[in-house]
Amino acid sequence: MKRVFSGVQPSGDIHIGNYLGAMRQFVALQDDYECFFCVVDLHALTVPQDPVELRKNTIELAALYMAIGLDPKKVTLFVQSHVSAHAELAWLLQCITYFGELSRMTQFKEKSKGKETVSVGLFTYPDLMAADILLYKTHYVPVGEDQKQHLELTRDIAQRFNNRFGETFVIPEPMILKLGARIMSLTDPTKKMSKSDADPNNRINLLDDPDTIYRKIMKAVTDSETEIRLDWEKKPGVSNLLTIYSLFTGMEIEEVVNKFKGQGYGALKKELAEVVIDRLSDIQKNYKDISEEEVLKVLREGAEKAEAVAVETLREVKEKMGLILFH
Ligand code: TYM
Repeated sequence: MKRVFSGVQPSGDIHIGNYLGAMRQFVALQDDYECFFCVVDLHALTVPQDPVELRKNTIELAALYMAIGLDPKKVTLFVQSHVSAHAELAWLLQCITYFGELSRMTQFKEKSKGKETVSVGLFTYPDLMAADILLYKTHYVPVGEDQKQHLELTRDIAQRFNNRFGETFVIPEPMILKLGARIMSLTDPTKKMSKSDADPNNRINLLDDPDTIYRKIMKAVTDSETEIRLDWEKKPGVSNLLTIYSLFTGMEIEEVVNKFKGQGYGALKKELAEVVIDRLSDIQKNYKDISEEEVLKVLREGAEKAEAVAVETLREVKEKMGLILFH
């Protein structure tokens, strides 16, 4: 069975961009692939985290993985820091990655812009991500559009390693959706919806209550026209709402446009809010039924399963690089 790996950072509220762009795909893949889904807590540490919040967010994200429909009997759910091979392989990969390559990463440029100090971890973040993926000899990586550049770098690093030290890593391929790979902010539809945006109205979180969802969608920024149509350049706000509607209902975008033809933005927003509230209520119901104890049990078992695979790859890598192992 081919392998799938993906990760989400426990660095804030998980929103419908994360869900529609990436996490929903995880659920669809679990029956056909050997899947590893990770809570990437070490990645979250690349920017300052409150320890109490980080712990809470880690458990919450793991519970959300389960609440959206990932079955721990079918997939391996685990926390990155529980498998130390991730950090160790990241170091080895850093030693074959060029400074210039990391300097070109747009995520680093965006996250470091205007900051007086940034951690070295933020700079080498892509090597840790490459380690996550390559440790499991992953074939496919379901992610949103913003991770494409990191995936390209991962492929380059894997290829470089294989060329220098002999065939070791599988060259992973990204799985990026045509629709939903970049859900935009509700307050500024020229920017992506993001956990780290200071304005919480930019995003709808998976655990937002119905009133909050309704309020955020009704306030979503659109444009001064009235016509409902898909036009990312001139009407990014409306195009984003149509996309979210289409993804949550399964209707084609054209069908959605026809449905709302001649109606105002208010009608689209109102119906969209109802749809989102309805779809998220299923996830929220599941979430409420999952205890922390249950989550920790799943994570403990997941760590063992992941570790078993990861240590094998790490041994192979170290041996090929000339590090001495005791057998
Ligand atoms: P993170 O935690 O920022 O986001 C998790 C996933 O959600 C996707 N995503 C979006 N998709 C559509 N529209 C949006 N507005 C949106 N915002 C986020 C992201 O593309 C991602 O798929 N570096 C990764 C985490 C990571 C990882 C990995 C992913 C670490 N190691 C290995 C895959 C494989 C990140 O920061 O995701």
